[in-house]
Amino acid sequence: MNTTSPAEPASGTTGSPAWLAGQGGPLRGELRVPGDKSMSHRAIMLAALADGVSRIEGFLESEDARATEQAFRQMGVRIDAPSPGTREVHGVGIHGLQAPQRPLDCGNSGTAMRLLAGLLAGQGFDAVLTGDASLSTRPMRRVTEPLARMGASIDTRDGRPPLTIQAKNELQAIAFESEVASAQVKSAILLAGLYARGTTRVEEPRPTRDYTERMLAAFGWPVDFAPGRAELSGGHRLRATDVSVPADFSSAAFFIVAATLVPGSELRLSRVGTNPRRTGLLPVLRLMGADIEEHPAGEEGGEPVADLVVRHAALRGIQVPEEHVADMIDEFPALFVAAACASGPTVVRGAAELRVKESDRIATMAAGLRALGIRVDERPDGAVIHGGTLQGGTIDSHGDHRVAMAFAVAAQLAQGAVRIADVANVATSFPGFVELARGAGFGLRTGGAGGINRSGSPPAQ
Ligand code: S3P
Repeated sequence: MNTTSPAEPASGTTGSPAWLAGQGGPLRGELRVPGDKSMSHRAIMLAALADGVSRIEGFLESEDARATEQAFRQMGVRIDAPSPGTREVHGVGIHGLQAPQRPLDCGNSGTAMRLLAGLLAGQGFDAVLTGDASLSTRPMRRVTEPLARMGASIDTRDGRPPLTIQAKNELQAIAFESEVASAQVKSAILLAGLYARGTTRVEEPRPTRDYTERMLAAFGWPVDFAPGRAELSGGHRLRATDVSVPADFSSAAFFIVAATLVPGSELRLSRVGTNPRRTGLLPVLRLMGADIEEHPAGEEGGEPVADLVVRHAALRGIQVPEEHVADMIDEFPALFVAAACASGPTVVRGAAELRVKESDRIATMAAGLRALGIRVDERPDGAVIHGGTLQGGTIDSHGDHRVAMAFAVAAQLAQGAVRIADVANVATSFPGFVELARGAGFGLRTGGAGGINRSGSPPAQ
């Protein structure tokens, strides 16, 4: 195997941080990735609305989760951080939030914005939710329309953020059949349902992650749910409880794919959350020929966890079964890289939601893989990725954290250095990615602010 080490930062500036990545060595050893992002958001939200003090362990110290934390501080909730990854949330009770004095900045986080929209729709105060450039382009009608049917009043800018929420003292329950398989939409409606008269019901076209339902139940709110549907009634209270957040499967996914692709690898990922609504990547990679062992390791925060042992294996292209799409919705950037290294074509269908993530992930992944010499045919709801040999090149991650990390994985197989621009947003989901990846064997270094030359000329050695 070629052992090109990643290059020094090239000169030339774009003003945003960049990485330089190239082949490292086999990935070996054991590592634990940071806490689950979806659970960290929800743990703060429910603990803030509970009666009493809740302790959260394994909280994800990322910009997204901190945006949610900060929003609740702005609404009068005391949240102590005695050590990294730990929070003590002094709940104010279901009706105890105070009107925020300034807009609540959700940063890059669609989860923060959509769940807060539901939660704040039935409060007796006004609130404004804002976001960064990427979040400001993302569709919000999928939550504001059903919330309006419940009696909420939320203005958007042509269906996009900012969201301006007007005070409502009570909402009406609805039975909602969602057209999109989206845990954020489902959660927004259920959280509004806490403040609604009657029974709020949500049905989904495909089951999505059920953390809101499970965590509401853990905080003592009666919820009736099964894959693809959930219902609850207003008028109860939340009881403070301690939450232990397992490692985020979506962060582990980059290492699962990297260890599969890099010859000689054997990597153990410890205590990863394996809620089946999150782990669709595993059966898909196994269909492609991956060697991934799952050793169940009990439960954490009411969620199944497992140690995953991943060994290098040659992959073959497949048609990704559509039934797995919702269960791996955040893993497509990593899957596209696996497909680029597989023999033959891999066909992704039924994944149009990828177009409205932190970037249009079908377009950004296709463009990036093409820049590294891989043929990709885009489809409205997916792509056909023709496995081949990755070359060096320059990638624009378009500020999408998962696109940036996926190309750091691709670089481990590339025949030349890969420059990845606009990587600052990796901090939204995976603080410490570079250090952890390097420790596992990745060839990866930070170019620093402005440290990338977008011309694509070869980096200095
Ligand atoms: C999330 C749901 C998914 C996922 C996102 C987190 C959640 O979004 O992509 O990263 O925590 O509920 P959608 O609901 O838009 O599919």
